[in-house]
Amino acid sequence: MKLGCLNLVLFLISVHLLNYCWSENWQQQKVSALTVLEHTEENVGESKEEATVEDDLDPEDMEVFYPTNDWQVVKPGQAIPAGLHVRLNLETGKNEAKIPDGETGKTGLKYWKQGTRHGMVNLDSKSFTAEELKKALKLMKLESNTQTEEGHQEKLRETFRPIEELMADFEAMNVVMETDMEIINKLVSKFNSSGATLEDKVAALYDLEYYVHQVDNAQHLMSIGGLQLVIKALNATEPRIQEHAAFVLGSALSGNPKVQIEAIEAGALQKLLILLATDQPVAMKKKALFAFSSLLRHFPFAQQQFLKLGGLQILGQLFQAKGIESLRLRIMTLLYDMVMEKKLIQETQDDSVQHQEKCRQYDELNLLPLMLEQDWCTMVPKLLTSSEHDTREKVLRTMNLMISSCRSEYQAIQGLSSLLDMLRSEYEGLAAEEQKEGETDGYFLGLLNSANDIIKQLK
Ligand SMILES: *[C@@H]1O[C@H](CO)[C@@H](O)[C@H](O)[C@H]1NC(C)=O
Ligand SMILES: *[C@@H]1O[C@H](CO)[C@@H](O)[C@H](O)[C@H]1NC(C)=O
Repeated sequence: MKLGCLNLVLFLISVHLLNYCWSENWQQQKVSALTVLEHTEENVGESKEEATVEDDLDPEDMEVFYPTNDWQVVKPGQAIPAGLHVRLNLETGKNEAKIPDGETGKTGLKYWKQGTRHGMVNLDSKSFTAEELKKALKLMKLESNTQTEEGHQEKLRETFRPIEELMADFEAMNVVMETDMEIINKLVSKFNSSGATLEDKVAALYDLEYYVHQVDNAQHLMSIGGLQLVIKALNATEPRIQEHAAFVLGSALSGNPKVQIEAIEAGALQKLLILLATDQPVAMKKKALFAFSSLLRHFPFAQQQFLKLGGLQILGQLFQAKGIESLRLRIMTLLYDMVMEKKLIQETQDDSVQHQEKCRQYDELNLLPLMLEQDWCTMVPKLLTSSEHDTREKVLRTMNLMISSCRSEYQAIQGLSSLLDMLRSEYEGLAAEEQKEGETDGYFLGLLNSANDIIKQLK
């Protein structure tokens, strides 16, 4: 292990974690977790993308009412965020809503939830910029993942008690105001106890996952040896233990350099690669890929190991496997993010020793050339047939990133140029609508430009 180099990276990134603050409730924890990421983003040297639980969103959930300081008509079916002023316009018979006058000073993105509907409002302006939209999508994915992680987790919730009940139990046991760390200790010893049943162990992991989103909590898990237990559990004989262990690990690793270092030393990378390379249920692959992404992001040493261990071939096989189409976008996004990470570091002007060391580490990484060798030029555009704007956006930007080396491969793909033409006319329409609404730097305009760039370069 190159410990000197690892410690340096740790130092670099730990600076950004100083602003991390504790908060009382679930929602705030999620938001403050994002604050950490925002601080990282401000550093021009870092990639703009962070590791998140990339879960599929129900398009219906995206129908958001964007409130402003003026009354606006609420369309039928549109969910209204809590806390708005709502009135019935007697002339038109339509409902209207606006931000209450006292709240106009507030700024930023605000997550809301009402029954099964949820969304994001931007208190600064009527609509989102592409960057804000992305951020909002991520926040919502984070929220929706924790709240409606497929039917499977619904079943889990029925079987196992939710956190609030767990807390109530602890309180009833007269352990007033137990800290997160104490709860984590209990969950770890429950998981590690020889008397624990399979259900007990899965429940302990399920509860642990909730706590380790917080940077300090994940580091506490590490300091008491719990992280090592979780990594060991990645090759447990019981698949449900493996899957939940990967989920805990992914959440603990997200944006947490200390935990990343510990995990790679404990062999997490090899174990995750085995889960990705072998025949496993989709749910297991999904969690393994999540942990894998969290381990690699912003960690050049782990990326180097990933390449050495043949990880790119494994991702290539996974990308082309039948029945796991839902994972393709995540795989491509991870690769894009890693290529961008290097590019951004190299483009940053900074003479400091730390930056020079970072550059040196990224210089050794040859992900993009390996991707070209391993046929990613023809694999990536396959995803462009998606009907989701978010997917297309990511495919287009990845294609753009690779185009100088992939031009002839793109040209040889049957139907790609007519598909690009179709996307262009679709986004011309959507961008024009956007512009009519006063949006000068809109999301669809970005997509249109992206498609146009590729079309031009393929001529
Ligand atoms: C787990 O249990 C084993 C055996 O009882 C013990 O040696 C080990 O320290 C425990 N690990 C943790 C992290 O509690
Ligand atoms: C898990 O992997 C370790 C080493 O990586 C090995 O010693 C152990 O036997 C494996 N456990 C199972 C259940 O396969």
